[in-house]
Amino acid sequence: MEAVTPGEVSVQDEAVDKSTFKECNQIAFYRRQKLLHPGKSLYHALLDSVTLSDENVKFPIIHEENKVLLQVEICEIEGSIFRLKIDEADPLRERYKVPDVLIKEPITRRLIISQKEAGILVLSNVNEDYKLQVTANPFQIELQSKAETVLSMNSNGLLYFEHLQPPPSDRKHTEENKDESSCDSSKEKQEDLGLWQEKFGRFLDIKAHGPSSVGVDFTLHGFEHVYGLPQHAEALLLKNTSDGDAYRLYNLDIFGHKIHDKIGIYGSVPLLLAHKPNRSSGIFWLNSSETLVDINTKAVAEHIPSGSAAETTKQRAVPVTDVRWMSESGIIDVFLLTGPTAFDIFKQFAHLTGTQALPPLFSLGYHQCRWNYEDEHDVKAVDAGFDQHDIPYDVIWLDIEHTDGKRYFTWDKKKFRNPRKMQEHLRKRKRKLVVIVDPHIKVDPTYTLYSQAKDKGYFVKDRNGQDFEGICWPGSSCYLDFTNPEVRKWYADQFAFKTYKGSTNILFVWNDMNEPSVFKGAELTMPKDAVHYNNWEHREVHNLYGFYQQMATAEGLIRRSSGKERPFVLTRSFFAGSQKYGAVWTGDNTAEWHYLKISIPMLLTISMAGISFCGADVGGFIGDPEPELLVRWYQAGAYQPFFRGHSNMESKRREPWLFGEKNTQIIREAIRERYVLLPYLYTLFYRAHTAAEPVMRPLWIEFPGKIETFGVDNEYMLGNALLVHPVTEPEAKAVNVLLPGSEEVSIMKLFSPRRFGMISENLNEWKIQAL
Ligand code: NOJ
Repeated sequence: MEAVTPGEVSVQDEAVDKSTFKECNQIAFYRRQKLLHPGKSLYHALLDSVTLSDENVKFPIIHEENKVLLQVEICEIEGSIFRLKIDEADPLRERYKVPDVLIKEPITRRLIISQKEAGILVLSNVNEDYKLQVTANPFQIELQSKAETVLSMNSNGLLYFEHLQPPPSDRKHTEENKDESSCDSSKEKQEDLGLWQEKFGRFLDIKAHGPSSVGVDFTLHGFEHVYGLPQHAEALLLKNTSDGDAYRLYNLDIFGHKIHDKIGIYGSVPLLLAHKPNRSSGIFWLNSSETLVDINTKAVAEHIPSGSAAETTKQRAVPVTDVRWMSESGIIDVFLLTGPTAFDIFKQFAHLTGTQALPPLFSLGYHQCRWNYEDEHDVKAVDAGFDQHDIPYDVIWLDIEHTDGKRYFTWDKKKFRNPRKMQEHLRKRKRKLVVIVDPHIKVDPTYTLYSQAKDKGYFVKDRNGQDFEGICWPGSSCYLDFTNPEVRKWYADQFAFKTYKGSTNILFVWNDMNEPSVFKGAELTMPKDAVHYNNWEHREVHNLYGFYQQMATAEGLIRRSSGKERPFVLTRSFFAGSQKYGAVWTGDNTAEWHYLKISIPMLLTISMAGISFCGADVGGFIGDPEPELLVRWYQAGAYQPFFRGHSNMESKRREPWLFGEKNTQIIREAIRERYVLLPYLYTLFYRAHTAAEPVMRPLWIEFPGKIETFGVDNEYMLGNALLVHPVTEPEAKAVNVLLPGSEEVSIMKLFSPRRFGMISENLNEWKIQAL
């Protein structure tokens, strides 16, 4: 079995073919949920059956028409977090509940029933600073802080819960469904709804357990600025989706993805933040199946009673933002992060999912990557190039071509005859090596990793119980089932020095293609009806696949050093909590100015979702940047948390010294500035690790009362002391920099005075000349 045929490789060679990926209206559960329009909810809470324990408050709710009972569970978690769970009271089979993302079973605090009367239940926390008011009919919940309603759930009546049912073939032939099955148009309708199977192009997804979608709406009162939900190539502020596609959270490998698009790419964190001058709030929707989020910000009239009875009540328009979450499967498990500041939210989220792993210092330096550095000689020459040109760097990377036929954990014996010696050479110069390790395993019985995993039953299965085979770089491949803890342990063991031949302790790891990418699969990923550990379908765990691979890899690197050294693992796919295992990057961007520009909001959004160690390929992965763009990208990347130059196989070589002495000089200076900043950056990462403060932050987080900062995404704060405004336009002679707040922000620190001179000062806006 040899490498992929040219036809297969072309999947990655061509720019995105839109028809490869779904639009929202091609997603059956989305179409089904959208049949439910805002209005009065058909769910009623049965408040006579409330039970209160030290851990939680529980009560059933019932759907007026189908009479199915759901169980609602509410608890308060240390740190002013409220958790709401909704599951079937008596499901036909257990529904998937996301494991391993929360760092521990949260410690709950007793809630108090402070009011219970006809149709209303009010729960208070011990401090009595928050109240949850449950209304029975229609069922809805309001979160109140003192006299302020912060948010409400199901106030638009969009609670949606598909209870599990036996397959139609197992059901008794009642008159009703006899009619249904005999009627062609009803059959067509069923197909359109995609209840038991769903077609997309030539792909068929068979839903063994039938429809299981869940969803609900939240209204954020007084909020018109909402953020979060990575990863999309989109602006910082979430946009209204009322006349377009919803934000999609579904990890996909989209080579040459478009920008300003709401399709899901590579990683997902279902965390949304909302901010207004006196308060920030967060909603964490813990669900790993495909998820769509609709956002609708609007103004509503609020009545303000005036002083005297004679006067009529006045009205004022207040903003609200409606957020509708829709997931294909699982249960509703949602955490309300009450803030009230953004930093409180970061702590609350970290309390649940962990903080950023503290990176080893070297990994905060500059990384030099390319698909591919050809052989040992090439590696040594590039390494020497940095010394010759007096440019600091710490890490050189090897992409897939370093392996023996894309068999990870091996070396191409011709190109890398003595990998240990090569690493000793790098070590002498205090440099490190990162190699790629993808999750697909070449189908080849002579490849130990494949044969062992096959024998142990460690691969994901197809719907018929056979090892699922898909195409990726090596050609026909099987996919390790990282959701199985035993597989993760075995995988971690592969990184032991004596098992991973040719590895040393200066070798670190890059996990790629872990959405997972399957070249000929529907939307270039694994079929949703593939089967994982404990019989869970892939649809339940899709967004967790990359999270688990990085978890196992990081564990492997920790174990190989007997717990002494911090690992460095870069992953392309991620989920909530991935911050615990290392770094992420934004995937295959393009060498165009717009991609440089969008990297800022993309990284800010990832950072706010807990993953501080993030970066975008400097120079743009696809294509060839003009020298000016490359230079500007280095200047921008030097101030981003993960700083790596990377390029595609077809791209021309672009080591920093290949663009003439003038450009080499500017790039050298940018990289050196990065190194000057290292103590500051390392300290920021320490704060991220210990106090969950994002390293890279939108302006509004540091200036929460300054409305003019709320939508800014062309500049940001690195920690609380540096404001960064990269130049992202060609031929820029000047940039307008917003300097919010009253404190003096040191311009001298922001930009090297040799490259930038101030032109004018206009209140808080400075024009800075770009040199
Ligand atoms: C896709 C990754 O996004 C890219 O960075 C890498 O170079 C290629 N895979 C080849 O491994």
